[in-house]
Amino acid sequence: MKIAVLPGDGIGPEIVKQAVKVLKFFDLEKSLDYAAIGGAGYEEFKDPLPKSTLELALKADAILLGAVGDWKYDKLPRDMRPERGLLRIRQSLNLFANLRPAIMFSELIHASSLKAEVVSDLDILIIRELTGDIYFGEPRGIVTNKKNEREGFNTMRYSESEIKRIAHVAFRTALKRSKKLCSVDKANVLESTELWREIIIQTGKEYPEVELSHMYVDNAAMQLVKNPKQFDVIVTGNIFGDILSDQASMLTGSIGMLPSASLDANNKGMYEPSHGSAPDIAGQDKANPLATILSVAMMFKYTFNDQDKFNLIENAVRGVLNRGFRTEDIYSNGTNLIGCEEMGDKVIERLEV
Ligand code: IPM
Ligand code: MG
Repeated sequence: MKIAVLPGDGIGPEIVKQAVKVLKFFDLEKSLDYAAIGGAGYEEFKDPLPKSTLELALKADAILLGAVGDWKYDKLPRDMRPERGLLRIRQSLNLFANLRPAIMFSELIHASSLKAEVVSDLDILIIRELTGDIYFGEPRGIVTNKKNEREGFNTMRYSESEIKRIAHVAFRTALKRSKKLCSVDKANVLESTELWREIIIQTGKEYPEVELSHMYVDNAAMQLVKNPKQFDVIVTGNIFGDILSDQASMLTGSIGMLPSASLDANNKGMYEPSHGSAPDIAGQDKANPLATILSVAMMFKYTFNDQDKFNLIENAVRGVLNRGFRTEDIYSNGTNLIGCEEMGDKVIERLEV
């Protein structure tokens, strides 16, 4: 078993360190190989996805990623920016299926900005297509137009095969859950998502047990805050999924709690928290490592087919929350404020019992 560990930038290294404690707890220390990505890759090799990192990731069974990005790289040419490293690794490894669960831990009900009854027991899964759409569509660029004015443009594109393969992932996932799938698009305006809807409907014929619905993305954004429990599995394209998954994460109180898995066709996966690199709090031992630790749980479930370890880790996290330990992002009066490092230790303590 080989696990590539890519800490990245900002809070990446400190949260990954805590998640690595969990991997070591399960005796995987010898399976770990570290490499630089994002700004860290740029610093070391002048490349946000250094060749050696990509090679390591290609050979690995699974990848654990922290986060990439820092304002100090904003002025670099686009290809050198940390985010490019992330997009390139997703594309190079064909990690087209991004699973982003939004689960309400009952202990954190008061950390949500929504009323408790709206979000209690919330458990939704956003499946975001990750290697297509306007993120990768060509042509793209910034040019000078006929009026001698600069003009930026991107192309929103989806091919039938790209839609079909994410549709299969979504229907299969829905079968294992409540058999309800909502596909989110903007088929009333955009041709690329008109095709999306057509292919989703067509693929759905192979899954008659799944109750399929469709929603325009603007309405979905509204319904997610109005009545999020109407959803179970949501499938959508890359850009809509980027936005809706951030929104869904806040229903649960903090984006600091939410893991993610990005899978290829063989369930090889890259596991990372859904949140970013938060350079404003980097190195201050304030970050919440639970999303990264829960991402390790997802690694066991999806790549290593080990539901038991998934449950063990999730229960350990629950146990820590139950005992009142909180990082700053989920802190409320009467709970016990601790740092990133200590939160990692608390999870290990719960795993040990
Ligand atoms: C995410 C992030 C990335 C994305 C950025 C960092 C490129 O926002 O994983 O959601 O837009 O996909
Ligand atoms: Mg995002």
